[in-house]
Amino acid sequence: MHGVWGNRWTFILAATGSAVGLGNIWKFPYITGENGGGAFVLVYLVCIALVGIPVMMAEVLIGRRGRMSPINSMRYVTREAGLHGAWTAIGWMGVVAGLMIMAFYSVVAGWALNYVLLAATGQLSSLSGAAAGELFGGFLGDTNRLLVFHSLFSLLTFAVVAAGVTRGLGMVARILMPFLFAVLLVLLVYGVVEGNFSAAFGFLFDFKFDKLSMSGVLVALGHAFFTLSLGMGAIMAYGAYMPEHANVSRTIITVGVLDTAVALIAGLAIFPVVFANPGMEPGSGPGLMFVSLPVAFGSMPAGEIFATLFFLLVAVAAWSSAVSLIEPGAAWLVETGKLKRAPATFLLTLVAWCGGVGCVLSNNWLGDNPDGLHIFESLDFLTSQIMLPLGGLFIAIFVGWLMRRAIVVSEMDAEEHPLFDIWLFIVRFVSPALVAVVMIASLYDKLV
Ligand code: PHE
Ligand code: NA
Repeated sequence: MHGVWGNRWTFILAATGSAVGLGNIWKFPYITGENGGGAFVLVYLVCIALVGIPVMMAEVLIGRRGRMSPINSMRYVTREAGLHGAWTAIGWMGVVAGLMIMAFYSVVAGWALNYVLLAATGQLSSLSGAAAGELFGGFLGDTNRLLVFHSLFSLLTFAVVAAGVTRGLGMVARILMPFLFAVLLVLLVYGVVEGNFSAAFGFLFDFKFDKLSMSGVLVALGHAFFTLSLGMGAIMAYGAYMPEHANVSRTIITVGVLDTAVALIAGLAIFPVVFANPGMEPGSGPGLMFVSLPVAFGSMPAGEIFATLFFLLVAVAAWSSAVSLIEPGAAWLVETGKLKRAPATFLLTLVAWCGGVGCVLSNNWLGDNPDGLHIFESLDFLTSQIMLPLGGLFIAIFVGWLMRRAIVVSEMDAEEHPLFDIWLFIVRFVSPALVAVVMIASLYDKLV
């Protein structure tokens, strides 16, 4: 009904397109900065290995089994297991979470689009750190401009989902990823030569646990879900379009490793600039990338070209992620038979767009107005730190404990293998326990 990926590689590319996005390049560096660096990075990496990748396999195989939107795939596997329909709520919560994320995601992607324009017209050339900060601050106060780019990005996302994601997405990712890696490597080299690379390296990989709070641990765990597009059905929907034979475990490990590599390289590109400029601070929040990187580009040979290319690639990476935020709901609406793909997609994009307008108008991204509505912060907190981890927890419990083993083995496309048993053990015990303990401990921490 929704199409099938051409082959295993198209699935890898589409899933990587979904995973690699603003989460890696924009969000990972700034939350790492806010949470003190090293220890946060270590906890994040542990969460990717012990929760993210194993649960990602579980989510994909529910999609493969159900072969429909997350809501209907959950309904199918629930019936098959002879269980109560309440499990379908995982699918519903995912659709809602997708729209909530899309609301702020499209605004930030709009920032990137604006920076493409600024870079291409030479307005990012030879900026000092202070001037870059002023430029960004001024932009955040320019409501009309924010709304224009937010709307443009929403429209671009609508176009792909309305046309059907299996059509051109693999191609986008195939071109995007090599270019993105290349430009990030240029920035990395710049950081080594011109920035304070040793300070940045130490900041990211010296594990100072006294700097990490319990709520920081939850941020790291939540980001493992966010960055892998996990716990809300995006990867489940993509799994549903997988061809008959494809080794799930190897495929998902590839996606997880690529995603992690992009995040770490982004960190290693941004922090050398931050530490070489006295006015910049690692913990300065969501503007970090938009304030630090223009300074690097500004003093680089052919910097304008690299800057234009970089922000364009960020926008395209965000685009191929945003598509998967809308897809679960769109696929479900199409399956009800009441709407065609285009109107269904339009409806969902419109809802998310309204949320984005709320983010823009509340205009409190840098938290400098304590009385303002914190719409962005609330959407981010509710999705990354509550809904996605809960979705992932229930997916792990479902696949680990309630699905028949024979079904799990066949949908993984794996024979009985010692590694299979290790994976199943992690999905049964380790991932659910980690998510539950971190969520409860940080709740306790907040209350006491
Ligand atoms: N994984 C995407 C990123 O890192 C964001 C995303 C989250 C996409 C959830 C889809 C679903 O930017
Ligand atoms: Na990501």
